[in-house]
Amino acid sequence: MVLQLDKLNKIFNAGTPLENHVLHDISLQVSPGELVALVGASGSGKSTLLNVIGLLDVSSSGELRIQGHLTQGMSEQQRTQLRSESIGFVFQFHHLISAFSTLDNVLMPLMLRYGKPSAEQTAYGEYLLNEVGLTDYMRQPTNRLSGGQQQRVAIARALVTRPALVLADEPTGNLDTQTADEVFGLFERFNIEHQCAIVIVTHDTRLSSRCPRTIRLTDGRIVYDGASADSDGVNAHL
Ligand SMILES: Nc1ncnc2c1ncn2[C@@H]1O[C@H](COP(=O)(O)OP(=O)(O)O)[C@@H](O)[C@H]1O
Ligand SMILES: [Mg+2]
Repeated sequence: MVLQLDKLNKIFNAGTPLENHVLHDISLQVSPGELVALVGASGSGKSTLLNVIGLLDVSSSGELRIQGHLTQGMSEQQRTQLRSESIGFVFQFHHLISAFSTLDNVLMPLMLRYGKPSAEQTAYGEYLLNEVGLTDYMRQPTNRLSGGQQQRVAIARALVTRPALVLADEPTGNLDTQTADEVFGLFERFNIEHQCAIVIVTHDTRLSSRCPRTIRLTDGRIVYDGASADSDGVNAHL
């Protein structure tokens, strides 16, 4: 399993008047190479769940395993290492560094980990930029790129470390329909070609229905986990 959650809970501001129990007993497993849509109303806990899975935030109770490694009890250094080895992120807002070239943005996770990238690593970054259709923009700063192009750079950046798991939080939320389709198509392609598991948060039922599996959250609880095709009945009354 790439990902195993067992009765995971997240409580913000525990023990204070602002206590907010956001995730309730979340148990799920994701196998290598799965493509999973994570859906649910705004405020249902999707981003909180993704941040906990991505080791950007800690759970309050329960167990989270990434590639078999139990993350509870890890030091911050161990968490950082596991995150950088196993996980790639794509956010709604791409967080690119506008003063840097497109290629340097893609290579950034490697530079943070190893320092100056090797020739092989640089070549892989160039390959990924070619795969997302941005070869001509490799040496240009990212602020010249359109929103869709910038999101393509963010996808290449997420993949440059060859992660077993890619987490994407509304990566097409800011894009027009056609660009969203194209960007989503890249996730589908990389999912098949690189066999990385992908968990993608989306509000767009056209896109979630293209994922074989859908997990739906309501008020921080899993109310559906199964084939996307069968989730329509669940969609209908929520
Ligand atoms: N850092 C935080 N502190 C306190 N409450 C938070 C924090 N982050 C998120 N929440 C709360 O958690 C709930 C779920 O938020 P979120 O995970 O962002 O939902 P979604 O991504 O599904 O829209 C909301 O009630 C939100 O206010
Ligand atoms: Mg969110």
